[in-house]
Amino acid sequence: MKFLEKKRYPNGKREIYIAGHRVLTYWCDKLKRVKRNCDIPLDYAKMLIRKKNVQFIHPVGIVMSDLDKIGYNCKIYQNVSIGNKDGGFPTLEDNVTVHANSIVVGNIRIGKNSIIGCGSVVLHDIPANEIWAGNPAHFIKKIPEKAIEENQS
Ligand SMILES: CC(C)(COP(=O)(O)OP(=O)(O)OC[C@H]1O[C@@H](n2cnc3c(N)ncnc32)[C@H](O)[C@@H]1OP(=O)(O)O)[C@@H](O)C(=O)NCCC(=O)NCCS
Repeated sequence: MKFLEKKRYPNGKREIYIAGHRVLTYWCDKLKRVKRNCDIPLDYAKMLIRKKNVQFIHPVGIVMSDLDKIGYNCKIYQNVSIGNKDGGFPTLEDNVTVHANSIVVGNIRIGKNSIIGCGSVVLHDIPANEIWAGNPAHFIKKIPEKAIEENQS
């Protein structure tokens, strides 16, 4: 066992262990990078990263409004906008992934585990466990059960 050990997690969480005992937990660069490079209210970004384990994979150019409709363990890539259309905001259920350069707007629901491919424009509900992509987004394929289990473990 090392005397001093540092652990880094993809959601920005950091832990420091001394002689096998955790002495410090903190969140660093992802939140700072979100603050610097994205238009997400800071309190809201903190809540998403720390409480909901939302991962901003490359936190650049992401625009999200101050709302409480993002589920747990979602992954949001760069240059994604999730926001208002005609006064309505999207709901992302748990484990949703939104790939780079996508726009998701309006009072719509993205079902759990579903994946939005890069460069998509999503204006309608998307069922759970499916991949959709394109402008406008269209059905690509069902996500195999095994891939869903792997993503959740
Ligand atoms: C949506 C995605 C997850 C699907 O991956 P996949 O399951 O391997 O899909 P495939 O490559 O087998 O493509 C299946 C079909 O969907 C189409 N398709 C895939 N991604 C698409 C996209 N983003 N937009 C439009 N159509 C897309 C393909 O052209 C193909 O169509 P075809 O059957 O008519 O030939 C993937 O294409 C994607 O967008 N990944 C994000 C990659 C990325 O942004 N990486 C950078 C991270 S920093």
